[in-house]
Amino acid sequence: MKRNYFIAAIATLVMASCGNTQQKEDYSWIKTSLNRSASQLLLTAHEIDGTGKLPRSIHVGYDMDFLIRQLERDTATFVDSLRKKPAPEMDGKRRLCSVYDWTSGFYPGSLWYAYELTGNKELETEAAKYTNLLNPVRYYKGTHDLGFMINCSYGNARRLAYADTIDAVMVETADNLIGRFNDSISCIRSWDFGTWNFPVIIDNMMNLDLLFTVSKMTGDAKYKEIALKHADKTMANHFRPDYTCWHVVSYNNDGTVERKQTHQGKNDDSSWARGQAWAVYGYTSCYRETGDKKYLDFAVNVADMIMDRVKTEDAIPYWDYDAPVTEETPRDASAAAVTASALIEMSTMVEDGQKYFDYAEKILKSLSSDAYLAKEGDNQGFILMHSTGSLPNGSEIDVPLNYADYYYLEALQRYMKLKGIEYKNL
Ligand code: GLY
Repeated sequence: MKRNYFIAAIATLVMASCGNTQQKEDYSWIKTSLNRSASQLLLTAHEIDGTGKLPRSIHVGYDMDFLIRQLERDTATFVDSLRKKPAPEMDGKRRLCSVYDWTSGFYPGSLWYAYELTGNKELETEAAKYTNLLNPVRYYKGTHDLGFMINCSYGNARRLAYADTIDAVMVETADNLIGRFNDSISCIRSWDFGTWNFPVIIDNMMNLDLLFTVSKMTGDAKYKEIALKHADKTMANHFRPDYTCWHVVSYNNDGTVERKQTHQGKNDDSSWARGQAWAVYGYTSCYRETGDKKYLDFAVNVADMIMDRVKTEDAIPYWDYDAPVTEETPRDASAAAVTASALIEMSTMVEDGQKYFDYAEKILKSLSSDAYLAKEGDNQGFILMHSTGSLPNGSEIDVPLNYADYYYLEALQRYMKLKGIEYKNL
């Protein structure tokens, strides 16, 4: 690993020291994207000021016949899961969420990344303000998503504007997250709702970064040990031989599997696009934190599967790899953004890293095109268009999502760092 990091670091130095490299390659798309991102995030900050809430997506309804066509099922099989459609006056308006929503950390996190990338102090002020809003989450125990919520907000605050009060928030949250770990099952419990005995979702891999960070912060290995036990059990049971994964694996109390499902995908055996992205990101993180090659090999296999299975020309996947490919099939820009971020990191860890870097670059250029990047003032202040939350539940179909924006900015940050690109030189 060290050797590959060394090679990546030398490459970065060479690129950075060849003052002309930046002029030769056209990075105007990055400048456009960062300026657009900053203005969209600030527009949102001003418009939601005083609500005590955070931006999540846009209220939209769904068309039953469209769902039936996408799911290739008959009405009766999924009618129970349908969500309430928004009231007509809410249709197309910004959907806000409370600090206890699983997505609450992404908007503050996006503000932090945009501040980091542009140096715009107004973004820093808003980032601190919206991060502080999440302070009560440190007492919350009701979900595994605590990692997303606190690591993306406070974790970035700690990195960019350190204050010792941040550590206590992160440690208390990590304690609450490991409080959901069950020794006999060897996993962190994901959800507290539904009829599953002990549901673990692939998304849970994303919450491990908080535990890795807190282990380093405190010097206490227990957070990391629990994270790795969770990762190992997930590796053993969530994946099919072709490295696609189920979304939900529920366990019996003795640690045996109760049930495998894909709650937000086309059907239980389909490959839900965002789930595959969470998987490649999660195991890349595990390798970064351990240097254990089994995680890297696994992440590479998942990455190769993604690159093989995503057939769209722009590399932005449809919402599920097994969805019927038609004109009306929605994309999931969030899955693409998560994948791009993971693959840029992975590209520094493997000998043939260039192909992962190139694929991530292709995704980033697609997301930065007019097809996905919102026009200034449009899209209710979100940066990217065309993500899908939970199609089978009639929820957030072909809308902006705050986590698409977050991972897009994170991927841009990783891309720029690796290439030695600075905003002031663009
Ligand atoms: N973590 C929920 C989702 O990816 O939709």
